[in-house]
Amino acid sequence: MSPIKAPRGTKDTFSPEINSWQLIERISSEVLELANYKEIRTPIFEHSELYTKSLGQVTDVVQKEMYSFQDRSERNLTLRPEGTAGVIRSFIEHKLYVNPLPYRVWYCGPMFRYERPQAGRQRQFHQLGLECIGILDPRIDAEIINLALNVLENLKIPNLSLEINSLGSSETRTYYKEALYNYFNNYISDLDTESQMRLQNNPLRLLDSKDTKIKALLEEAPSLLDFLDNDSQIHFNLVCQYLNSLSIRYTINPLLVRGLDYYNKTTFEIKSSSLGSQDTLCGGGRYDGLIQSLGGPELPAIGWAMGIERLLLSIPTNNQNIANLDCYIITLGEKAKILAFSILNQLRNSNLKVDISFYDSNIQKQIRRANQLNATTCIIIGDEEIQKEIVVLKWLKIQKQEEVSLNKLDNVAYKILSS
Ligand code: HAM
Repeated sequence: MSPIKAPRGTKDTFSPEINSWQLIERISSEVLELANYKEIRTPIFEHSELYTKSLGQVTDVVQKEMYSFQDRSERNLTLRPEGTAGVIRSFIEHKLYVNPLPYRVWYCGPMFRYERPQAGRQRQFHQLGLECIGILDPRIDAEIINLALNVLENLKIPNLSLEINSLGSSETRTYYKEALYNYFNNYISDLDTESQMRLQNNPLRLLDSKDTKIKALLEEAPSLLDFLDNDSQIHFNLVCQYLNSLSIRYTINPLLVRGLDYYNKTTFEIKSSSLGSQDTLCGGGRYDGLIQSLGGPELPAIGWAMGIERLLLSIPTNNQNIANLDCYIITLGEKAKILAFSILNQLRNSNLKVDISFYDSNIQKQIRRANQLNATTCIIIGDEEIQKEIVVLKWLKIQKQEEVSLNKLDNVAYKILSS
């Protein structure tokens, strides 16, 4: 019988990669909590309707990528493909809008999309995200972009670039879609079936097409920025000014529409040129109409999410913070095992990272094991040491050893920690 494997597009995570996860979690929570964002944890599955209503019926996520199922009571449920919809559902359900706004939250956890797996793209992936609800002020747009960059810079991720755009109001997009439709309709026979479908259903999706013919046609296509309504234009100019005031460098990319339908006004993406084809680390923008469309009050909101798997691919390995073992305890004989077991406990209580040998092999073999574990020191206890009421403390990297009296074991912890 062949052994069972993890499902395609999912992954087990081991040490030392887990150190990078912990680093990401620590740094991001520090940066975001300093900016007064609080952590939120929402369910991993929600009613399917939440996503079909919020992400857009004709988006790839809703049409092709959702992990949807019926539970035993025939409820239609979906494993969350992203975090925003769940946060907004919870904000409305718990009437959190009665509290002073903005409501600022961050989250980190697994998301699920049925996509073709490749480097930086999985079916179970993880996002770090934030949402800021209730304030339509361009300072908030600049604040959240700045926070995303702060997280990435603190993780020492190289070669970052920021692209921003404005999608304007829903009227902007209605007029622009019409103009785009008319333009591409002139070339309908040059388009493949997928592009023709996009043209019919949502011409904006042609803007981020990978098809070379579409890319060439886009050079002459009408620009979204020429269709912006006055209010959106003013908002976008101010966002740019606030970014300038923070000395944040950006490129305005009028083709940046994002893959989910809830956006309006500001959208942005942060990429790293050190990644391959899946180079978008972070994406986000305003979604001022979503709360009301899900049955809540009319309140603006904005947020972003970054893919942790893509962060892991870009974090420099020397930033991985690998903690080694401080001490490995080696025993010879049954009496030594009993004494060593209490020393193990004592040293761990003194904040040392300690492990113990479970092998009865000779000392040399056990020392080899200590070296494999990259331990700084080992403690050796045999019958002779018990008789003399001492242990041998051996420094593995510098090949030095000393005898330590059993009643001076606290010194061992001090010596190792201060070495
Ligand atoms: P998104 O662009 O769909 O936006 O995803 C955000 C980020 O999640 C992407 O830039 C990428 O780094 C990562 N990501 C997406 N799909 C995968 C995958 N299959 N494997 C690995 N990483 C992936 C959102 O999800 C919005 N909810 C962001 C947002 C929050 N907008 C406003 N608030």
